[in-house]
Amino acid sequence: MIELAPSILSADFAHLGEQVRAAAEGGGTVIHVDVMDGHFVPNITIGPPVVRSLRKATDLPLDCHLMIEDPDQYIAEFVEAGADWISVHQEACRHLNRTLHLIRSHGAQAGVVINPATPIETLSEVLDIVDYVLVMSVNPGFGGQKFIPAAAHKIRRLADLRAGRRLHYRIEVDGGIGLDTLAEVVRAGAEILVAGNAVFGAGDPTSNARKLLKAAAEVTLQKV
Ligand code: DX5
Ligand code: ZN
Repeated sequence: MIELAPSILSADFAHLGEQVRAAAEGGGTVIHVDVMDGHFVPNITIGPPVVRSLRKATDLPLDCHLMIEDPDQYIAEFVEAGADWISVHQEACRHLNRTLHLIRSHGAQAGVVINPATPIETLSEVLDIVDYVLVMSVNPGFGGQKFIPAAAHKIRRLADLRAGRRLHYRIEVDGGIGLDTLAEVVRAGAEILVAGNAVFGAGDPTSNARKLLKAAAEVTLQKV
């Protein structure tokens, strides 16, 4: 079953609790939290205090996507604040194996993220220690950008690799996902769809989330 991870980056921060509940009502099962430091990406967003508040607002897993340099020094703090899943960028980690083990040692699910320009081959030595792989389908930093189609090819290869090596990671995709692009990534094998603008941009987050999940389910049915 395809999961929807509404990204709060596009939500109204003055009403975050309500917005998250509205997206959950529409079927969102993971809350995607974009953490940006103004160094790894050219934007600054939020940190552990907001995660702590979100923790009180929802029981859904909080998926913290760390777009920051030197993530190791903040992992314990994010878990303590309530993060259930933590993903780090391959491009930001000098000792990726160590960082992924560090996430797991704190009891969180460990994810690795790759930018559009990063080949999946760079993950070959860590695929057996990650719980999920996040494929960026935009260059990270902002919501509402245009989907980069090459991401679908990467997703397909990650799904094939997983079958070939009998591994178990889940495949998540992030950036430009909406009604017009989701079929392509679902067909390729994406299992968790991050959507910011498509959920919180215009209209009601509950019905937006419902429509996305319905469209994803229809594609899954066509697949079998
Ligand atoms: C971008 C973030 C995304 C962003 C996606 O750097 O990682 O999670 O919120 O937003 P949309 O779905 O609007 O492309
Ligand atoms: Zn993200």
